Amino acid sequence: MQLSMVVPWGRCFKEYKEIFSLSQADLQVNILGCGDGPASFNAEATAAGAKVISVDPIYCFSANQIESRVNEVSHNIAQQLKENASNYIWSTFQNVEAVVSARLAAMKDFLKDYESGKKEGRYVEASLPLLTFKENQFTLALCSHFLFLYSEHITEEQHIAGVLELCRVIKEVRIYPLVTLDGRPSPYLAPVIEAVTSAGYSAETVAVPYSFQRNATEMLVVKSV
Ligand SMILES: C[S@@+](CC[C@H](N)C(=O)[O-])C[C@H]1O[C@@H](n2cnc3c(N)ncnc32)[C@H](O)[C@@H]1O
Repeated sequence: MQLSMVVPWGRCFKEYKEIFSLSQADLQVNILGCGDGPASFNAEATAAGAKVISVDPIYCFSANQIESRVNEVSHNIAQQLKENASNYIWSTFQNVEAVVSARLAAMKDFLKDYESGKKEGRYVEASLPLLTFKENQFTLALCSHFLFLYSEHITEEQHIAGVLELCRVIKEVRIYPLVTLDGRPSPYLAPVIEAVTSAGYSAETVAVPYSFQRNATEMLVVKSV
């Protein structure tokens, strides 16, 4: 994998709590963060006593390499946010500068935790659709800003294989958002729901309290029945 092909951009624990409507009970179970990248979710949740393992292909890189790449992409992302400002709701963040500053702060918290977290096995290099975990090893999977969002880059088959692989190792999978980068409903939501229900899982879309990207109001929840 080449880091130049990835847009690492991370959110914090508070955002994950809203994105996935996480309750205190949710934070007591074994959690897999899929595609966590440079988010500070794992660092902050672990410090608060949660058990989280994050997987992401970028964990083959060093802290310095990840930091350089985040700094490299931040200017372009800021520019895109400015150009597409009407695609976002400016209440949580007042302006583009506030978003960039929050993302860089999350990355710094992630970087402080990265080397020790790697040694503890909390940051694992892995890529959907292949996770080297046992069946039902985790209770809850959280997949933020990867599946459905990048529908132009990830095919329908890859979406289905990725979600089925998450279902193999986790009892409950939550995925957010369900819209693409330009805020349109992902064309792969219906095929993914069809595939997981055919495989014997339950699937429903659930409203969440997080609000930033316009139309990104729901997560998909897939459970073993
Ligand atoms: C936009 S970032 C989101 C980071 C974090 N989940 C968040 O919401 O703040 C997307 C992440 O997906 C990761 N990713 C790319 N391909 C992946 C794959 N096949 N399996 C798992 N994660 C992948 C990228 O490396 C990147 O860190």
